[in-house]
Amino acid sequence: MSDLSKMERLDKILANAKIGSRKEVRLLIKAGRIRVDDEIATDHGARYDREQNKFYLDGALVDTREFIYLILNKPEGYLSATEDAYGPVVIDLLQLKHQAFDPFPVGRLDKDTKGLLLLTNDGVLNHKLISPRWHINKVYRAKLRDPAEENYHKKLLKGIVLDDDYRCLPALMEVLSEDGTEVELTIQEGKFHQVKRMFEALGNKVLDLTRIGFGPLDLPKDLALGEYRELRDEELELLRQAVKKKAEPLKIDEEENKLNTK
Ligand code: URA
Repeated sequence: MSDLSKMERLDKILANAKIGSRKEVRLLIKAGRIRVDDEIATDHGARYDREQNKFYLDGALVDTREFIYLILNKPEGYLSATEDAYGPVVIDLLQLKHQAFDPFPVGRLDKDTKGLLLLTNDGVLNHKLISPRWHINKVYRAKLRDPAEENYHKKLLKGIVLDDDYRCLPALMEVLSEDGTEVELTIQEGKFHQVKRMFEALGNKVLDLTRIGFGPLDLPKDLALGEYRELRDEELELLRQAVKKKAEPLKIDEEENKLNTK
């Protein structure tokens, strides 16, 4: 049985899929160039389900999905924006068929930051994912100018005070390299230049920054810098679950300096 709440007019479905204006779509229907499932469409006002029915223009399948969800390995040099008068933006990295959905980045990475960036035109999910309410973990790998000091762990757990007197939520750091200059940092906020400012407040400097995790998702190993793909159904479901549960602040075992998963 069709879900009546999901039924939409044929001309609206096709115009939203950007094959033409509603007027142009009606002309295509009149000319017999539109097929829905196995039948040539004749009524532009007939109602269909854009996810259940299949729509064809001159025999070619039309992508009538309302939303898309992309995961990008952002390279340096691109602004996390949809347009900019002065330089390239992450949308420039997308194929036209994906740009047609008008996706926008989920939060921002600095121009010189690399790594995991989600893009979607689903405003509701986007809003939830960037809201501090859900305490979504963001994991960064940072190259520091000076080796991380032992006292960083405690200070990060207590909440670093930034240059504007904002006290950050607890953050978790793990030292990755023997010389102490490569670290992994997990935070649950997305303040402007947050990771860089946190290390500045510690008297250090971030030389290179890559986001490797966002909530339940890791940066896919098979995505080279500048590459992206659509999220798989199960990945999207994990994201939806992450903003369904009640907000959980980072549970940290202070003695052990590790995430407490209990
Ligand atoms: N923190 C930063 O300083 N920059 C980013 O791009 C993301 C987090």
